[in-house]
Amino acid sequence: MQDHETLEVGYDIPAKIGMAESEILTPALVLDLDALERNVAKMGGYAQAHGMRHRVHGKMHKSVDVAKLQMRLGGAVGVCCQKVSEAEAFVRGGIADVLISNEVRDPRMIDRLARLPEMGASVSVCVDDVTNVAELSQAVATLGTQLDVLVEIDCGAGRCGVARPAEAVAIAQSVSNADGLRYAGLQAYQGAMQHVTTYEDRRTAAEAAHAIVRANVAALTEAGLSPELVTGGGTGSFEFESASQLYTELQCGSYAFMDADYGRVLDARGARLDHGQWENALFVLSAVMSTARSGKAVVDAGLKAMSMESGLPLVFEREALAYVEASDEHGTIADPEDRLVINERLRLVPGHCDPTCNLHDWYVGVRGGVVECLWPISARGKVF
Ligand SMILES: Cc1ncc(COP(=O)(O)O)c(C=O)c1O
Repeated sequence: MQDHETLEVGYDIPAKIGMAESEILTPALVLDLDALERNVAKMGGYAQAHGMRHRVHGKMHKSVDVAKLQMRLGGAVGVCCQKVSEAEAFVRGGIADVLISNEVRDPRMIDRLARLPEMGASVSVCVDDVTNVAELSQAVATLGTQLDVLVEIDCGAGRCGVARPAEAVAIAQSVSNADGLRYAGLQAYQGAMQHVTTYEDRRTAAEAAHAIVRANVAALTEAGLSPELVTGGGTGSFEFESASQLYTELQCGSYAFMDADYGRVLDARGARLDHGQWENALFVLSAVMSTARSGKAVVDAGLKAMSMESGLPLVFEREALAYVEASDEHGTIADPEDRLVINERLRLVPGHCDPTCNLHDWYVGVRGGVVECLWPISARGKVF
């Protein structure tokens, strides 16, 4: 537990350990530690039972403490990050195995990437262009370090990654011949299918993605470059990656916290993901600040406290209430029976966990209504 004796509530931190949840200064990011631990243990158990490694996506929570919990309770092998500065925060915090599941092209960030192994970490990165291989190799050769490299393929999302197996083979060959780089395998994440609502439609999308992965694995194998690691998968698709027999590693992130957008996705039994497979563990704790208008209440959490590009937040376990409108610092709650009172706390489930976490400095971990821990959001704002 960290010593927060010198930090002051309202100036430096939103709460002190031992406080009641109702005393936390709002708006604050609150973690239900029991729910978080159950989610983490469940995904860890799944990966283990299916013989897969789990490299949790750290871009979701950006927290060294949460990553360590996922390694301790969920058997995670390390973290994925999207940016070099994010990876630096995890490595500084003691995470020794980091994959940047993204391309790094700015020469200054390539230099910082090449320095990361000097901090004692095993570091991998994705590549989808042969010229990037030469840039990375030159950087590590200058420093005398080493990087693992994954060839990223586009398996349907139309973002980064090569489109044709022949390109994947050419890059893998180039990595194998490059000084200071080790060809580690394939990055194959299909982000666009994660939120497809029904399980059957997601399965169909996953099968299309996996056909592309299979063609790439076959071409690489034929060229004598069989990938040791095939990594990808998210909260909406990990069961399909595991069933495909193609993947050796999962990269799920959102399952640990959940959010309102993922909550709408349905599992194999047709239940909402947040009412079956996973539990809401992340909340924006807000307080009522105005009840001046009948039928409505205003809370202190708006666009600066949570992201809403994936939809409005849900009011947790208060079916009669709905968050209906947001502005910078305010949220309007429809309260038809005028039940809410000033300073009453509401747990809001944010629309999208990743960008919401990036808006805050601290997680306030709560168990049984009492603050148990304060965790800094170590890589908050690390977008380079
Ligand atoms: C490359 C990559 N892998 C894994 C994930 C994790 O996905 P999820 O949060 O849906 O589990 C993401 C999320 O965007 C991602 O970009």
